[in-house]
Amino acid sequence: MKVLVATDGSEPSIKAVQRALELAEQGAEVTIMSVAYFAGDQFDATFYDIQEKLEKDARAALNQAKAMFDAKNIHAETVLELGLVPANNIIRRATEGKFDRVIMGSTGKSGLTLALIGSTASKVVTNAPCEVTIVR
Ligand SMILES: Nc1ncnc2c1ncn2[C@@H]1O[C@H](COP(=O)(O)OP(=O)(O)OP(=O)(O)O)[C@@H](O)[C@H]1O
Ligand SMILES: [Mg+2]
Repeated sequence: MKVLVATDGSEPSIKAVQRALELAEQGAEVTIMSVAYFAGDQFDATFYDIQEKLEKDARAALNQAKAMFDAKNIHAETVLELGLVPANNIIRRATEGKFDRVIMGSTGKSGLTLALIGSTASKVVTNAPCEVTIVR
């Protein structure tokens, strides 16, 4: 089974990584994915500093998740992508990589405690080509 787990570094997404790790222990092939916001060349010079920071944050989220696998000596692929709408990147990769399941948190970095489900999770659960597990 091919599993794609999406992380933005938030607490709910760490729970999703934990779930993916459990599946990996049972033999699943796991890819961890983070999407850094990318708006193209639409800003002035300060844009490059902002972009660098966004990519750094996404890489940190990826490294944190990868460390959880490393600690158990379990292999995982990691993918960092740039995009305007993270759900689009996640859906595209799930489709092109022929994944069997996507795992993600119910909410993320926006920390909308009142929201039952965030917009990224909502879009992926609605449009993904495969099973989606939303971890609360
Ligand atoms: N940029 C991202 N890269 C990878 N995974 C992401 C990204 N953003 C969100 N996710 C995944 O989606 C889950 C739900 O986050 P989501 O973005 O839907 O909620 P939110 O940030 O609280 O609200 P919103 O983004 O709609 O304001 C996260 O726990 C994580 O698994
Ligand atoms: Mg979000």
